[in-house]
Amino acid sequence: MSDVVFRRKDLLDLQSLSSAEIRSILELATSLKQVSARAIKKVPTLKGRTVINLFCEPSTRTRASFELAEKRLSADAINIQASSSSTQKGETLLDTAKNLMALQPDIIVIRHSASGAAHLVAEVVPASVINAGDGCHEHPTQGLLDLFTIQEQKGSIAGVRVAIVGDIMHSRVARSNIYALTKLGARVTVCGPATMLPVGIETLGVAATTDLREAVEGADVVMALRLQLERQKTLIFPSLREYAAQYGLNRQSIRWMKSDVVIMHPGPINRGVEVSSEIADGPQSVILDQVTNGLAVRMAVLYLLGNRS
Ligand code: CP
Repeated sequence: MSDVVFRRKDLLDLQSLSSAEIRSILELATSLKQVSARAIKKVPTLKGRTVINLFCEPSTRTRASFELAEKRLSADAINIQASSSSTQKGETLLDTAKNLMALQPDIIVIRHSASGAAHLVAEVVPASVINAGDGCHEHPTQGLLDLFTIQEQKGSIAGVRVAIVGDIMHSRVARSNIYALTKLGARVTVCGPATMLPVGIETLGVAATTDLREAVEGADVVMALRLQLERQKTLIFPSLREYAAQYGLNRQSIRWMKSDVVIMHPGPINRGVEVSSEIADGPQSVILDQVTNGLAVRMAVLYLLGNRS
């Protein structure tokens, strides 16, 4: 492995990372993926380190893979969910963070509905903070695992044409992917109804269109996003049926795509809305590979932050 260049206290976003830092994490993830293929799926790298996973929003993939990654690296890990924590009694996020810090963890992994929550915590605690998704802002480890999956499928990121389809406006996954993919030389087109495309999104170095066919024709990768209904103040599309008809990846729209296109989705999927079951479970889908790769990428991030001192 080449020299690791990621030497930060926290992983809060991909916007501020250099392409060399991103490559460095992906390279380490490639090595660590092999740990999960062994009979004994454990290395002693983080033995004696403590990680607290603080999830203030629902999660299946991110939470399970962080916890498993911590166990595979031999860290001591505990999980706190907002629904059963003292935030229910009115404790603020900063008070929660300071009280958890009193238990002397080395790393805090946090998911929160407020954009900027991870940054706020990182400013007040000496532990490393990993953003596991903050509101509509960023989901850096999802972005990294998506890049890892594209690299695995297509051999590289540079020059790959990626179409990101759906609720770009509310998607932290879209933002993290856009920052990282453009830094590594991918050509990105975002697509969705006009109400789901942020004004001026092109300034991030992407093309934008409301026409699904235009977005997916010639794309090497098509990434569908979940409709973030919990973040939409009102329904910004007439109905789910109309959304599915115009923007769903299905038997009709896959005809417009290259035969070797790779279909991605960060999950959870609204089947029959963003992606039909036929496509989600079909030969072009790498949706479950994304989940597998999430474990390797999160091991890499934990490894780097857990060994900084
Ligand atoms: N992709 C993702 O963040 O999934 P979860 O919400 O299940 O963690």
